[in-house]
Amino acid sequence: MISHAIPLFLFLSSGLSFTPCPLLGPAYPPFSLDLKDEIIASSLQNLTQDFDELTKTFSGPNGDVSPNTTFSIVLFSTDKGDAQDDPFFWQYHYTSPALKESSGSSENVTENSIYRIDGLTEVFTIWSLLITQGDRILSEPVTEYLPELASASEDNGIGSVQWDDVTVGQLASHMSGIARDYCGHDLSSQKNFKLAGFPDIPAFELPCCGNSSQCTTSEFLQSLATRPPVAPAGVTPSYSNMGYQLLGYILEKKTGLDFSEIVQNNIFDPLGMNATTIFAPESSSIDVIPVDVQASGWSQRTKGSEASTSMFSSVRDLALAGKAIMNSTLLSSSQTRRWLKPFSHTSNPANSIGAPWTVYSSGNYPTTPLVDVYTLLSNEGVGEGLYSSYIGLVPDYGVGYAILSADTISPADLNVHADYTATVLEGAIKSSLVQAAGNFGGKYAASNSTSNSSTITVLYDALPGLYIGDFYSNGADMRNSLGELIGVTNSTNLSIRLYPTQLIEDDGASGSKQAFRAVLQDMDAPEDFDTPTCVSWMSLDVFQYGGRGLDEFIFSLDTTGKVVSVDIPALKLTLQKK
Ligand SMILES: *[C@@H]1O[C@H](CO)[C@@H](O)[C@H](O)[C@H]1NC(C)=O
Ligand SMILES: *[C@@H]1O[C@H](CO)[C@@H](O)[C@H](O)[C@H]1NC(C)=O
Ligand SMILES: *[C@@H]1O[C@H](CO)[C@@H](O)[C@H](O)[C@H]1NC(C)=O
Ligand SMILES: *[C@@H]1O[C@H](CO)[C@@H](O)[C@H](O)[C@H]1NC(C)=O
Ligand SMILES: *[C@@H]1O[C@H](CO)[C@@H](O)[C@H](O)[C@H]1NC(C)=O
Ligand SMILES: *[C@@H]1O[C@H](CO)[C@@H](O)[C@H](O)[C@H]1NC(C)=O
Ligand SMILES: *[C@@H]1O[C@H](CO)[C@@H](O)[C@H](O)[C@H]1NC(C)=O
Ligand SMILES: *[C@@H]1O[C@H](CO)[C@@H](O)[C@H](O)[C@H]1NC(C)=O
Ligand SMILES: *[C@@H]1O[C@H](CO)[C@@H](O)[C@H](O)[C@H]1NC(C)=O
Ligand SMILES: *[C@@H]1O[C@H](CO)[C@@H](O)[C@H](O)[C@H]1NC(C)=O
Repeated sequence: MISHAIPLFLFLSSGLSFTPCPLLGPAYPPFSLDLKDEIIASSLQNLTQDFDELTKTFSGPNGDVSPNTTFSIVLFSTDKGDAQDDPFFWQYHYTSPALKESSGSSENVTENSIYRIDGLTEVFTIWSLLITQGDRILSEPVTEYLPELASASEDNGIGSVQWDDVTVGQLASHMSGIARDYCGHDLSSQKNFKLAGFPDIPAFELPCCGNSSQCTTSEFLQSLATRPPVAPAGVTPSYSNMGYQLLGYILEKKTGLDFSEIVQNNIFDPLGMNATTIFAPESSSIDVIPVDVQASGWSQRTKGSEASTSMFSSVRDLALAGKAIMNSTLLSSSQTRRWLKPFSHTSNPANSIGAPWTVYSSGNYPTTPLVDVYTLLSNEGVGEGLYSSYIGLVPDYGVGYAILSADTISPADLNVHADYTATVLEGAIKSSLVQAAGNFGGKYAASNSTSNSSTITVLYDALPGLYIGDFYSNGADMRNSLGELIGVTNSTNLSIRLYPTQLIEDDGASGSKQAFRAVLQDMDAPEDFDTPTCVSWMSLDVFQYGGRGLDEFIFSLDTTGKVVSVDIPALKLTLQKK
């Protein structure tokens, strides 16, 4: 995985020396994607122009691409907005002249064109596991479900996996430390392999079943069990297709169904993903097959790889899947929140590991907050096929991308394509700030008060969150009182920033409520330098009055979503929006 350099938050060049310490999560309340919004419309227009330029010159600010790379890309959103009827709100397709010459292939690729998606299969494997088994299973040892692994493993040496130590969740998050692949990658098995330094070995017997297309599951497990590990379980991320092959076996064993039936029944059918299959579909005019079926990897069908690298799909179907994941269509919201979280760091501070996500943390801490992009890139390289595929989800803003591609020489590095979408993510964030400022920003006052003795003013600037300016409770200046609590003697130096907690109450005919928490900071405190000390999560809810947190602000919205008032429970205040 090549790391991106998405220049997020360029627009937040506020010139303020103050560094806010926001909560993890979206900086603004849920927004509505409006394609007519000036910022969104302009960023989409620019994106189309960027791709027009890229497919004319094959180079650009994110790097070069090959004219031989055919690709389809879509952007999708969980918000109904005005993109309601389509699975996505923007698309772009490029058909390489080389593809048009390939026999059996699409003439022009579209949203319905079918590509091989290889490693993106993993998303559907773990998703099916969560739908059918829940996530308790993630902390169980693998040997609970596949006991033959433990008995097949020989000794306690460096060459054996301690299968009792490996959990199902570690298989899903590439933390199991087990071998990467089953037996496809042995260089000695390549005809005419000649590089200096490699000893001659007799016709090498791969430690897998003789003819793998005839192996039974138990024969597979016998040979998988004896492959040497990379590391003990839980030590370091180490990508493993074999881990997902094992998850497939666990699913089949638990449900008594074939993997293909499991994903069909639980995901493809409910979501209407009619173009997605395990292994190559019946040949049709929408297939994307560069060179020929052999060279492209289209016809490659490794038994046992159903749950790791077998799938074929279209960008339309991946958009349906991405939206359903972020919108908790097939899982509970609490389950989705647990799934869309990192499981481990990697050695790259910008990347964490999920199941199976590579979580890319964009933003430029500590100047800006993090925005996590849950990505999966499948790009196996020469020898495996000519396809690469990429999906990215931004749960905080409900937007995502899917990119499918096929090259004629070697799989494309889709980071170049993905990086262009950063402008739209920036646009979505900017647009959510503008919407939040318009709706939540302004003056609030007690309705029964003849003077302005209880008031707050909600403001915004270029930084994450909203902030409170004037703040009076029963005539007393709360900025002074709160400043004293955290030791800020001059209250002009007190920052009170509001961040949404995503506690939302739908009260039907009487509207809804959204809770925020305030983070108090001394704007004059020295900036973080080498050792970041942003720990606002440790002081949430710390000051209580009458059993309620002083940092609690609950906004009431009417049925049209318009903010009407704010409650400050600790101060027993209800202030109407003026
Ligand atoms: C689109 O591109 C124009 C011209 O480069 C630029 O001025 C504008 O800010 C861009 N729009 C967005 C939303 O980035
Ligand atoms: C594109 O494909 C042509 C013909 O297959 C090949 O000669 C050329 O080197 C390829 N270009 C790149 C950049 O891969
Ligand atoms: C997402 O879920 C909400 C609430 O269940 C629903 O109203 C909305 O239509 C869903 N959006 C999509 C794109 O499915
Ligand atoms: C493919 O695109 C070209 C150029 O836009 C067009 O001339 C041609 O008719 C298209 N072919 C099909 C089958 O749609
Ligand atoms: C492996 O089995 C498949 C399916 O039975 C068969 O088509 C193929 O020829 C066999 N390959 C070898 C090397 O025996
Ligand atoms: C899948 O359904 C969509 C929308 O109904 C349709 O446009 C598309 O042609 C279908 N694809 C396949 C492969 O049946
Ligand atoms: C205003 O209303 C609040 C309750 O909403 C009440 O506690 C307070 O005493 C009232 N103030 C005056 C001046 O009537
Ligand atoms: C409102 O409060 C401000 C700040 O204390 C004060 O300057 C102003 O005179 C007050 N206005 C009224 C109408 O009481
Ligand atoms: C507080 O700080 C502001 C801004 O630096 C300054 O104008 C003001 O005089 C200070 N007030 C006190 C009481 O020191
Ligand atoms: C904070 O207050 C001090 C005086 O107490 C003042 O010198 C300084 O400029 C203030 N800083 C900010 C950011 O207002």
